[in-house]
Amino acid sequence: MNSKIVVLAGDGIGPEIMDSGLKVLRAVEDTCGKTFKLEKFPFGGAGIDEAGASLPEETLAACQTADAILLGAIGGPKWEKMQDTPEKGLLALRKTLNLFANIRPVSVSSALLHLSPLKPEIIEGTDLIIVRELSSGIYFGEPRELTETMAFDTARYQKDEIERIIHSAFKIAQGRSKKVTSVDKANVLASSKLWRATAEEIAKEYPDCQLEHQYVDSAAMKLIQNPKAFDVIVTENLFGDILSDEASVLPGSLGVLPSASHSDGGPSLYEPIHGSAPDIAGKGIANPISMILSVAMMLRQSFQEEQAAQAIEKACDAVLSNGLFTHDLGGQASTAEFTDAVIQELKGA
Ligand code: NAI
Ligand code: MG
Repeated sequence: MNSKIVVLAGDGIGPEIMDSGLKVLRAVEDTCGKTFKLEKFPFGGAGIDEAGASLPEETLAACQTADAILLGAIGGPKWEKMQDTPEKGLLALRKTLNLFANIRPVSVSSALLHLSPLKPEIIEGTDLIIVRELSSGIYFGEPRELTETMAFDTARYQKDEIERIIHSAFKIAQGRSKKVTSVDKANVLASSKLWRATAEEIAKEYPDCQLEHQYVDSAAMKLIQNPKAFDVIVTENLFGDILSDEASVLPGSLGVLPSASHSDGGPSLYEPIHGSAPDIAGKGIANPISMILSVAMMLRQSFQEEQAAQAIEKACDAVLSNGLFTHDLGGQASTAEFTDAVIQELKGA
């Protein structure tokens, strides 16, 4: 049976990098010994423009029956002031599919050691995973209100929502260094006090692992001061969003970081951690690595195609080691040139 992948290219640089991701996917189909069935649907700004909604019903229905979902990126000034926005579509998709566990690996390829603004000796050997709670917290909490003189949001967490993401983090840690750093603001926020107490409780179920707590402000500092001190970082939605953009300074660009979002048994979604980059959209210069590595994560985690996933990761690394970089990393290569080079590497492998 063919595996069905729903493709949501989105808008901005989304379609440009999705094109790269799909070309690379096609290039490893032989390794996988199967053909993936790709079904493209409008979503985000493209959903609003083409189907009148950021998350059209047909798009959602297709996602619900997919084996996996690939998402490019969404958002931009064009839709900012509308009633429906691309971001609303993304939040609704995450909520409806119950995608609560967003896994964001951050490592630094030796080819990138001298491209980061941070010193090579600080970032060398960085290999951490940010486990971001994705379906609750202040991005979803009600009530919320915005008037001309007052505004508020609600940072709400149910205990079971915290429990399940902490479990996800410990399970990942068990296959790695067995260390979990839980990041919160428990000295100030009620939601963080519950978060910390729950993390302590769940930790008792993982006696082989170590749990430490850090406040988010100090964690933000330590993340770039000594990234090697971290292995698995687990945190709530807003903190995870901010810390992972910060973490992209370690490899040198937002354009190289992929992610996977999981629910309990439903289809998983794979997407870059960055947005639609309206400042460079349409120029053909976006870094496709974030999307290509998201494809690799999909092959590994949704389809158990470890060999193909590793081949893709190695090919990206080889292209970087050969000195080919897109503009975000200080190079001249276009999105298409970089993608073609990755495919050449895959063919040679
Ligand atoms: P952004 O992540 O789109 O861009 C931040 C900076 O990183 C920009 O200078 C951009 O050019 C650069 N950048 C990002 N990805 C890149 C890539 N692959 N190659 C080269 N450079 C890259 O964040 P920004 O500008 O704050 O937001 C733009 C829009 O994206 C907003 O509408 C925002 O709401 C939306 N957004 C969507 C997300 C998603 O689709 N999952 C996530 C984050 C933001
Ligand atoms: Mg973000």
